[in-house]
Amino acid sequence: MTKTVRAILGNYFTTPTYGELAYEEKALILVNEAGMIEEILLSEAVGYEEALATQRAAGHLVELKDQEYLLPGFIDTHIHAPQWPQAGIALDKPLDDWLHQHTFPLEAKYDDVAFARRVYTDLVDQLLTRGTTTALYFATIHKESSFELVKICADKGQRALVGKVVMDCPEGNPDFYRDVSTQQALEDTEAFIQEVRDYGRDVHQGVYPVVMPRFAPSCTAEALQGLGDLAKKYDCHVHTHCSEGQWQHDVTQERFGKSDTEALKDFGLFGPKSVMAHSNFISDEDAQIFMDHDTAVAHCPISNIYFANSVIPIRHLKELGVQVGLGSDISGGFSPSLYDNIRQAVMSSRQLEEGVDRDLAQSERGVDNSRISVLQAFHLATTGGGEALDLPIGQIAKDYTADFQVIDATDLPSFEVFTDPEHELQRILYLADKENIRQVYVQGCLVHEK
Ligand code: GUN
Ligand code: FE
Repeated sequence: MTKTVRAILGNYFTTPTYGELAYEEKALILVNEAGMIEEILLSEAVGYEEALATQRAAGHLVELKDQEYLLPGFIDTHIHAPQWPQAGIALDKPLDDWLHQHTFPLEAKYDDVAFARRVYTDLVDQLLTRGTTTALYFATIHKESSFELVKICADKGQRALVGKVVMDCPEGNPDFYRDVSTQQALEDTEAFIQEVRDYGRDVHQGVYPVVMPRFAPSCTAEALQGLGDLAKKYDCHVHTHCSEGQWQHDVTQERFGKSDTEALKDFGLFGPKSVMAHSNFISDEDAQIFMDHDTAVAHCPISNIYFANSVIPIRHLKELGVQVGLGSDISGGFSPSLYDNIRQAVMSSRQLEEGVDRDLAQSERGVDNSRISVLQAFHLATTGGGEALDLPIGQIAKDYTADFQVIDATDLPSFEVFTDPEHELQRILYLADKENIRQVYVQGCLVHEK
């Protein structure tokens, strides 16, 4: 057994499997030097009192109060870091106008590393204060400022997976924001992978390079194939947008004569470390390809309201067996909070089930059996994210990373009614905001304290 460097005593919630809640009171969680959960001693366990006394004497015990709860750190499986200054802006426009008129001019500014540093520093702080301990980030086409994001996350203690974005297609991208050539895009991606891998060796909580075509419409077939080859060569994470809205879905079908899923898979971009943002329009055959390759969907419920032309049937995909994580999609989604996205995931699923056009007969209005519970949405933000990224994160369990949020629930409206653990968790998930997040830990280290 390795040395315990931190111990936490408190009540915790975690969801080991989809739809299942584990709650323990006054558990003693032992964290080793590597920042992994070495052991969890439940209050009735043999040796519990002794272990507690030992940890107390060692001086590194964190004791939670009665009205405090430990939750796993949240995992944002799709976020555009450079779009933080655009949060809440121009969401009345369709995706294509939003991208060309606002997003691409903004992202072009990140050739200025000092500007990148200002934005990224603030964003990472904002995410940590909201309990996001791991993020899968889209950066921009610029290798240098993408690396700046890696360094900022490393310094602030957040676990990050970052991609230099590839957009090399002259037809799909403006002249002012495009890779200078396909070859340069691939060379920059390969150099970025090597540099981040090198740098990441000394980063306690881990930083990872990601192969990142923006989406099929912004890439040449040569680039997509080259990126698939790099993903294989380096056994790298892959992240892109897949069948987000009707337009993206149709355009890829017309261009390649197959679905977005089939096309991306045929370019070598599907694998256990691949995460496809949105995927609203995937068919059941596409879903089978996701499962065959252990590839995950990053569900972004707030963003989907604006740009996805549909509500994705998460319940159906989970029943088929597809891995699903949760994403904020800053700034297609305006909120940096995965709490807000948990809530929207539930609400959107209810609207899918009920339907929204009151002029239709009730029996024809919605899609039966579509609702998901808030506990299931909590799973997407935690365990689901860990499965998506193929990392031992998202659960409070032995051999998982010690990534926690300490929630202070004293000012939430309990009035000593509805005090079952499941009610406490529901109240937290629906009502807590960053004011309730007292501390955040990543890989055993304190990274935020209110
Ligand atoms: N598709 C291609 N780029 C983007 C983006 O930045 N945001 C969203 N929501 N969809 C995209
Ligand atoms: Fe996106």
